Amino acid sequence: MITRRDLVRLAGASASTLWLPRSARSQARLGENPFALGVASGSPASDSVVLWTRLMVVTGTAAVTVSWEVAHDELFQRIVRSGQAQAEPVLAHSVHAEVGGLEPGRWYFYRFTAGVAVSVIGRTRTLPAPDAPVDRWRMAYASCQKWEDGYFSAWRHMRAEALDAVLFLGDYIYEYPGTSGRIRQPGGGWVITLGDYRRRYAVYKGDPDLQAMHQACPWLLCWDDHEVQNDYAGLQAGNSGPNDPSHPADFAARRSAAYQAYYEHMPLRAAAFSRAMAAPSGAASLRMYQRFDLGRLASLHLLDGRQFRDPPVCTRHGALGASPVNPASCPAWADPRRSLLGADQERWLEQSLARRDTAERIWSVLGQQTVFGQRDFKPGPGEVLSNDGWDGYAAARRRLTDRLRQHRVPNPVLLGGDVHANWVGHVKADYGRAASETVGVEFCGTSITSRGGGNASLPERLAENPHFVFADAKEHGYGVAEFTPSQVRTSLRVVDDVARRDAGISTLAEFVVQAGRPVLERAA
Ligand SMILES: [Fe+2]
Repeated sequence: MITRRDLVRLAGASASTLWLPRSARSQARLGENPFALGVASGSPASDSVVLWTRLMVVTGTAAVTVSWEVAHDELFQRIVRSGQAQAEPVLAHSVHAEVGGLEPGRWYFYRFTAGVAVSVIGRTRTLPAPDAPVDRWRMAYASCQKWEDGYFSAWRHMRAEALDAVLFLGDYIYEYPGTSGRIRQPGGGWVITLGDYRRRYAVYKGDPDLQAMHQACPWLLCWDDHEVQNDYAGLQAGNSGPNDPSHPADFAARRSAAYQAYYEHMPLRAAAFSRAMAAPSGAASLRMYQRFDLGRLASLHLLDGRQFRDPPVCTRHGALGASPVNPASCPAWADPRRSLLGADQERWLEQSLARRDTAERIWSVLGQQTVFGQRDFKPGPGEVLSNDGWDGYAAARRRLTDRLRQHRVPNPVLLGGDVHANWVGHVKADYGRAASETVGVEFCGTSITSRGGGNASLPERLAENPHFVFADAKEHGYGVAEFTPSQVRTSLRVVDDVARRDAGISTLAEFVVQAGRPVLERAA
């Protein structure tokens, strides 16, 4: 029986060194292409990066030694670093090689070898040195890639965007069973056990367009609910629909399995995994929230709005999960004790925002799962709000905007996902007063494929929520945000048709924000 302590030890060991003695474990036999799930890189620092792969092993219970190489050139003639890692069966034969000693702000090529098999070549980069001036940082933000809702053409087109990094904001997989009549089939039933999650990731990771984008540059990762279960909140189960066979009382175990599988399939540092697998509560956790600095150009905070949130309040019919709510009839709505990030993360964020080297950078980017600004769905007097996102945690949202003002955090730009629609808006100090101060701007991105609600009600929703200047719930794709010292230019890129593998791409709209002036200007 593998204990949590063993997993932690293995994660640490497999990330760095060759340490296991040869044992009686049966020799692992690799699949025809052991690298069929591709390669990926992520968690970059100015001197290191994590290289990921997961071996497809046909039989056997032994660990497999995997070699990795990092080079300046695609032919691997100028090798910078090389080493070995153990692909452990208890971690689904995943590899998380943490490569240090790299130069800041520089591109590298990497590949893996296992036995006679060699992986495809990935390209990655380190972050700029913390004190380096940076002329340009070009980053896509994307979320919500429901397999059954379409093909991943968006990832194919993103390859041509010449990006420094991808910011993925959640819903990497969905936990639903395969059903007929959809654009394509993930196969399998409800995703509940560790084996289920691993199989579902393997389906997604098998997609050539997704693989190609992982190969192209490092990814920075947030997660949302569907990596575990629709609308879950902390350790409270969500609600994936009437046929979901999972039991809410078993949710902690399900979440632990989902978090482990997430780690196994993402280029995360072993420390993010181990810190938390040792949680005393019996439920695994994973340290996802973190800060990256893009030289002197920007600070980038990634937030985790799922793992530590308080349960939603006043969901209809007392059900689990989320629903629209009339706040006037929900006494718990404005309870200031409720948090979306949890007390520890709120404290960490405030301390980080208050740092002098945050104030000294030009842009302050906050990457998180969902739309930030208030979206009142009810035209005219009265309100109907979702209790799932920041709207359901209005006091916590106010604490965050208060901190941004109090610490004079420069040029906040919030990036989000989750709602399967583009929402572009001004971040307000007080969403209850249209005339209140503008604190920053927000770009909530549409889905890669997941179905949106359509545009029928959008004109009246925009009129009801004038802090938003643009919305579209019909198109799918991603956003590209290009930061320079003087401005950020954001393009909303959309595919013609998610039902077609060969869909084209176009620009739906483009916005410019000048540094020092939080006003969205329409550029295209
Ligand atoms: Fe989603």
